[in-house]
Amino acid sequence: MAYWGGNAIAVHDIEQALMGTSLGMDMQRGVSVHGGHRHHLKAINTIRRCGSIAAAVDQGILQSGVMYECVKNQVPFSLAGSIRDDGPLPDTQMDLLKAQADYAHLIEGADLILMLSTMLHSIGVGNMTPAGVKMVCVDINPAVVTKLSDRGSLESVGVVTDVGLFLSLLVTQLAKLTGEYARV
Ligand SMILES: NC(=O)c1ccc[n+]([C@@H]2O[C@H](COP(=O)([O-])OP(=O)(O)OC[C@H]3O[C@@H](n4cnc5c(N)ncnc54)[C@H](O)[C@@H]3O)[C@@H](O)[C@H]2O)c1
Repeated sequence: MAYWGGNAIAVHDIEQALMGTSLGMDMQRGVSVHGGHRHHLKAINTIRRCGSIAAAVDQGILQSGVMYECVKNQVPFSLAGSIRDDGPLPDTQMDLLKAQADYAHLIEGADLILMLSTMLHSIGVGNMTPAGVKMVCVDINPAVVTKLSDRGSLESVGVVTDVGLFLSLLVTQLAKLTGEYARV
């Protein structure tokens, strides 16, 4: 198993884990909190002070979220940078050629790739994935899943829906699996 993304997913995830907000919006109440506009950069600077996402987990500062689970469960991840990144996080690879090489390395041996609401990274991964690997592209915009197929990722299955809905249904279905399937 491996995880690919950009600076954004990690920053949003870490802001939520540390402060319960995403770009200053309270994730439970759906309202912006006082001074929340700073949370984004506060999250980045907290990780920068620790040295890396893994170091923040080791130091007990990051205690939940997608990135925390990756570190705790030793799921290798690659965060590919872009020109619009805030910070970036120390783990975000801003040398695009190195980021592409990291992505390609992690794709080796994959037999299923889930692409969740990112046109940029879905098309990037699709372009460097060999034929025969199953891809499921989830996006609320039909043009994105079509674009992925149009650019040559013919094996991709498009699911046009809200990613939150998709993930909660996926978790429910996975929880139903027991025995040998649960260990796969
Ligand atoms: N903070 C940072 O450093 C930073 C850096 C880069 C991007 N970002 C932000 O992160 C986000 C993702 O970046 P990206 O480069 O992957 O953008 P992108 O435009 O390539 O992809 C985002 C995709 O999400 C889809 N989407 C939106 N709402 C959805 C929903 N509810 N369910 C399913 N799909 C949905 C859109 O249709 C779009 O295809 C953007 O909002 C971007 O502004 C932040």
